[in-house]
Amino acid sequence: MSRLSRLLPSLPCAAALAVGAGVVASASAAGPDEAMLKLAANSGCITCHGLEPGGKGPDGLAPVGPAWKDVAVKYKGVKGAQVQLTRIVLQGSSPYESHWKGKVSGLAMPPNKVAITEPDAKKLVGWILALPPAAKPKP
Ligand code: HEC
Repeated sequence: MSRLSRLLPSLPCAAALAVGAGVVASASAAGPDEAMLKLAANSGCITCHGLEPGGKGPDGLAPVGPAWKDVAVKYKGVKGAQVQLTRIVLQGSSPYESHWKGKVSGLAMPPNKVAITEPDAKKLVGWILALPPAAKPKP
């Protein structure tokens, strides 16, 4: 109950994500971006994640999960990141070993294995890791 009501207010982010995606898509090939965003939406990822940093979660808290552009920055150049993150996406993250402590309001990511297949998760994580960094706001 309370969990659901905590997640629901973040849903409008999905609309923002879709709008932002148009911009992203025009910068590179439109096809794969659209397919990946659809996959992310259908797999329930964007209930907790957005693309762009700075999104707020319910009650003005930090977003539930890290913005995917922040994920791309954090793991840039890290060997084996796609394999490691695919495993975390499928199995869930450990609340005792949070990689985003203090930066997100979610304590851990639940396992997504029921929502997405391993090959799809790997594709999606590869796409996430290749996202361009967020544009800096103009002064
Ligand atoms: C119920 C909320 C929720 C859902 C649904 C969710 N995530 Fe997450 N995700 C989180 C949280 C919270 C974290 C931060 C984990 C941590 O603290 O290490 C996270 C972290 C991540 C990370 C970074 C992991 C790390 O160790 O740095 C990736 C990549 C990711 N999620 C991708 C996905 C994908 C892909 C999906 C859909 C298949 C998804 N998430 C669905 C909440 C969620």
